[in-house]
Amino acid sequence: MDSIVVTGGGPLNGEIPIAGAKNACLTLMPATLLSEEPLTLTNAPRLSDIKTMTTLLQSLGAEVTSMQDGQVLAMSSHNIHNHTADYDIVRKMRASILVLGPMLARDGHAIVSLPGGCAIGARPVDLHLKALEAMGAELELKDGYVHAKAMQGLKGGVIDFDFASVGATENALMAATLAKGTTVINNAAREPEIVDLADCLRRMGAQIEGDGTPSITIQGVDRLNGATHPVVTDRIELGTYMLAPAIAGGEVELIGGRINLLSAFCEKLDAAGISVEETQRGLKVSRKNGRVNAVNVVTEPFPGFPTDLQAQMMALLCTAEGTSVLEEKIFENRFMHAPELLRMGAQIDVQGGTATVTGVDKLKGAPVMATDLRASVSLILAGLAAEGETTVSRVYHLDRGYEHVVGKLSAVGAKIERIKE
Ligand code: EPZ
Repeated sequence: MDSIVVTGGGPLNGEIPIAGAKNACLTLMPATLLSEEPLTLTNAPRLSDIKTMTTLLQSLGAEVTSMQDGQVLAMSSHNIHNHTADYDIVRKMRASILVLGPMLARDGHAIVSLPGGCAIGARPVDLHLKALEAMGAELELKDGYVHAKAMQGLKGGVIDFDFASVGATENALMAATLAKGTTVINNAAREPEIVDLADCLRRMGAQIEGDGTPSITIQGVDRLNGATHPVVTDRIELGTYMLAPAIAGGEVELIGGRINLLSAFCEKLDAAGISVEETQRGLKVSRKNGRVNAVNVVTEPFPGFPTDLQAQMMALLCTAEGTSVLEEKIFENRFMHAPELLRMGAQIDVQGGTATVTGVDKLKGAPVMATDLRASVSLILAGLAAEGETTVSRVYHLDRGYEHVVGKLSAVGAKIERIKE
């Protein structure tokens, strides 16, 4: 298993290009199942999760061709011969559940393995199933698989989510495009990735209104066409790299970044003493006056502070002046980066879903272990500002969501290398 070695050093300067969003691409790819016409995605990120979704779609009979070094995904689903998503693929990546709605909407039947939990939480899919049942699907759980049927086709319905689940909203939205009649999704997730999916579905001929608000209305249509769609910028990669000059000093321009993707996060950076300036090409980030202030953070569904940036923000706050309180309200076990940051000399007290961080002058480099995707990159950020060398092991977690981390950070002056083992 490879590791990444970061040597803490001086300020960072230069520019970092931001890729297409992993979490948009992982829901845009299953949308190919909704049409027999070709769906092509541009600005796709080069990540292992995208390869996993490719393998899953190909196992169903879809054709997925990766071009231009993985930035273009040409897909065609005119010949779906298998309607079962196997556990050995689904267990690797939870987003696999997103083939359920499209397969059911297209052919009236699907068998999808339950994803199981993951490091950050149990992550049930009850809301996905409730949404499909509201559209007339008959579901049976057997041997760890969901057996779904809608032999007369799905019909429009009203879906009231107890929680604004991103994945459940995406499954419901895709399924509703081909349901007979009108579907209304209340307490829908509002993330930019939902809006990007709706934009792509509209290009394919779907009739959708209200995406990005808590209530989405979909008029079902008989069929969808093909389309070409650019994947939206990855706001989590953007926020992650905005924290690099924040934690290490200097000034970095994030190419492709836009404030409206991350307004709550940018407000917190401003309060922490970090300047974020919109430029022609993206966002320029630097410290306002050399100091980082402690701030409190509560993670919430969009437009609140993103849970996917909580670990990275904690790394910054470990070096802030004062005490910060971070509340993780989305997942039940998303502080696994804390014990690793403690090894670097951080002062963090975790009580349930709340972490209290007292800033220290300097973190110290140390061997640390990646436990999940966002925790792994928070350790790299901490290493940029630490004294000495930090070795992050198990970086396969990182490859799921960050392309070319070493290249992107080296380009702005970071001392970072990947050790192949
Ligand atoms: C998406 O996961 C993202 N993944 C996650 O990013 C992100 O953290 C999350 O949304 C929240 O923003 C993808 O888009 C592929 P949820 P998802 O359904 O859809 C509970 C990353 O690092 N819940 O909004 O699984 C669930 O247990 C990943 O890129 C139910 O109880 O998120 C969790 O506590 C990590 N029942 C909370 O809701 C359900 O049926 C949020 O889940 C569904 C979810």
